[in-house]
Amino acid sequence: MTKRLLLPTPTLPPARIDGARQLIDTHGRVARDLRVSLTDRCNLRCTYCMPAEGLDWLPTELSLSDEEVIRLITIAVTRLGIRQVRFTGGEPLLRKSLEKIVAATSSLRTDEGGNVATALTTNGLGLPRRLPGLRGAGLDRVNISLDTLDRERYARLTRRDRLPDVLEAIDAALAAGMHPVKVNSVIMPGVNEEDVVPLAEYCLEKGAELRFIEQMPLGPREKWKREDMVTAEQILARLRTGFHLTPAEEPRGAAPAALWHARGVDKRGLNGRIGVIASVSSPFCGDCDRTRLTTDGAIRTCLFSRSETSLRELIRSGADDGELAAVWAGAMWGKLPGHGIDDPGFLQPQRPMSAIGG
Ligand code: 5AD
Ligand code: SF4
Repeated sequence: MTKRLLLPTPTLPPARIDGARQLIDTHGRVARDLRVSLTDRCNLRCTYCMPAEGLDWLPTELSLSDEEVIRLITIAVTRLGIRQVRFTGGEPLLRKSLEKIVAATSSLRTDEGGNVATALTTNGLGLPRRLPGLRGAGLDRVNISLDTLDRERYARLTRRDRLPDVLEAIDAALAAGMHPVKVNSVIMPGVNEEDVVPLAEYCLEKGAELRFIEQMPLGPREKWKREDMVTAEQILARLRTGFHLTPAEEPRGAAPAALWHARGVDKRGLNGRIGVIASVSSPFCGDCDRTRLTTDGAIRTCLFSRSETSLRELIRSGADDGELAAVWAGAMWGKLPGHGIDDPGFLQPQRPMSAIGG
């Protein structure tokens, strides 16, 4: 007989009349977007994310198996109101069974009756040859990370000389008809500030949607200082040297990016949307609709949580779907109102971004 794990009964939000629950919290937010980290490993070593030698990777037995991940995603969609699933890492392409997990996810139907939207956040390495399989599995969208167009700077920043592979990945995603193809860029002072305008030109020329993200305190310990961050305002000021910017009309909803319509100042007629995610200088926690599942099976209510709720031992000790759903809902019910990066007592989460999932 499997040994059952006894957990304290969580404080729970009210269940609906049909017994289904939603991932609501005491601040009135409803989580619809699940981020699943499929591995904490990566084939790059971005300086703001990892030390050169990498991190102490999670042992395999502590990582969720494919069946366990798929079971938890199924519970999130069929019992907890999740409508979008994003796969992250580390680098999610390093998970060999990614296609299988995407296929199982995209076949699920949401509480609205449609299929779940699936997305992938990747550094792009190896994406071209995986794309047919991922498209076949139903993957809807990709976000590809690219912080510079300068090959040497890319090699310094990621500690690997792989810029051509990333550019190839962006081309492949566009050629495969993925829409939108988003490009994520983190701008750091004295490192890649000059890349702001070239990155924007490159993305507008290609038809990719660029998102600048303020650097958050999630990387190697003690490295982040607020003064060292390039703020959204500073990014916009740089952008204005190459573009006329007007706020894009669409309502922002739970999407973290403030969207701008950019029109090139020169004669090329470049034109399109660019987003800026001011996670630190203008937090969007009040609209957050996310819940996170780590590689080793823990629920995190926020990137910056200092605690998490592990479902791994519960699942391995024979808990049924209803129990797992209740513990997940209980964890989310206690979600804090904000990340508090600006509070004097702010402490970085114990785990790095690569283990939590971007
Ligand atoms: N702050 C902001 N963005 C980060 N990313 C990784 N670490 C940080 C950080 N500390 C971004 C990567 C990638 C995505 C997974 O998250 O650049 O685009
Ligand atoms: Fe890898 Fe992403 Fe971290 Fe870079 S930021 S080392 S690509 S997990």
